[in-house]
Amino acid sequence: MAEAAGVLGQSPEFATVVVIGAGPAGLTVANLLRRSGVDCVVLERRSREYVAQRQRAGIVETRAVRMFDRWGLADRVLGGPPHDGILEFRVDGESHLVSDSDGSEGPAARLCPQQILVQKLTATYLADGGDLRFEAADVSVRDLNGDRPTVRYRTADGTPHTLTCAFVAGCDGDRGYSRTVVPEGVLTAHAFDHGIGWLTVLADAPPPAHPLLAVSSQGFAAHFPRGPHSSRYYLQCPPVDHPEAWPDTRVWDALRGRLGDSALAAGPITEREIFQLRSLVHDPMQYGRLFLVGDAAHIVSPMGGKGMNLALYDADLFAGAVRDFLRDGDESGLRSYSQRCLRRVWNDQEFSHWLTRTVHDAGDDSRCGPFHRSLARARLDRLFTSPPAARAFAELVTGLDPVG
Ligand code: APR
Repeated sequence: MAEAAGVLGQSPEFATVVVIGAGPAGLTVANLLRRSGVDCVVLERRSREYVAQRQRAGIVETRAVRMFDRWGLADRVLGGPPHDGILEFRVDGESHLVSDSDGSEGPAARLCPQQILVQKLTATYLADGGDLRFEAADVSVRDLNGDRPTVRYRTADGTPHTLTCAFVAGCDGDRGYSRTVVPEGVLTAHAFDHGIGWLTVLADAPPPAHPLLAVSSQGFAAHFPRGPHSSRYYLQCPPVDHPEAWPDTRVWDALRGRLGDSALAAGPITEREIFQLRSLVHDPMQYGRLFLVGDAAHIVSPMGGKGMNLALYDADLFAGAVRDFLRDGDESGLRSYSQRCLRRVWNDQEFSHWLTRTVHDAGDDSRCGPFHRSLARARLDRLFTSPPAARAFAELVTGLDPVG
């Protein structure tokens, strides 16, 4: 990391940072760098239309909203209504409202579907003159241990391009390319299979009053808002199952049974998928001039809504570290990047794991046995009745816990 000065404003084939991947992680890195006056090029292998429509996460946690606010971007990149700070747990049909507001001052979480965030981050970056190259094929990286890594790719018509840079941000998700560049033996992969399947269904059906998690002897179910007339549902299912085994009538019957709501309104199902709950952490999140950001470094099971928010946290640390290095010659942020990110990653993995176990074990005990079912019910009981337990929960949901 020799020279801090002299890397800004060079020829078009040099970019201070090359960002690989234009998901929430890459686009956030790009926007934050731009706010810092650091030039970067984003290479995305898909088309703009494809990336803009990809539906996944649905909530930007309080900490991440305040992060965008701090960078002066909250009004431009966030959509959707503020989250009212209430989560509903329904246990055998009985409702328990839990506040997930920690009472602190400042903007709250937003019910902002990932595709809205991605569309707005893209539009903001481009409106500010950012360089974003879609349909960049065959990205490859060299010389990560020198001062000037090289990144090659091809445009859609096959034309080869070469960029040199000071840093590479690997933001290309779990199945991306960046992590594969790291020599064998450098990264340790900590993987965990929860042994649980989820059927996920997106439907044009009324959203719930509050994000809803339902525990029942028939298995776990959840109902989340994804817009004024759109909902995402989750149904626990065997890890090896098929979406075809879940025709519409079975989906709505199962949801009505598990949510304890025989009047639940149905609607056209627009997406139906099955996936297995898994968690994965790669340590460290850096190799030479390559910094892994978001899913490229870690996957967290969706329970708790932390995947996208962790990506935003990494992006904040990485962009701040590059800015401090270039502006002040301060290398500390780059040096501590991996360690600081991983501290929050494990914090959020623990929360997600705790919540995953609790809502699944408390329901159908055929998987975990009656002892663990009673333990999980005791945890829920404590959450519903103990203000300090509810407060600790809120701190984790909002991301305002002191970690990081
Ligand atoms: N070259 C260029 N781009 C690539 C390559 C490649 N070889 N491989 C993948 N990409 C792109 C993908 O097309 C995608 O647009 O990288 C992007 C990665 O985006 P995500 O998978 O959404 O990963 P990330 O940005 O880290 O997302 C963070 O949001 O909803 C969650 O599940 C998501 O938890 C994840 C989080």
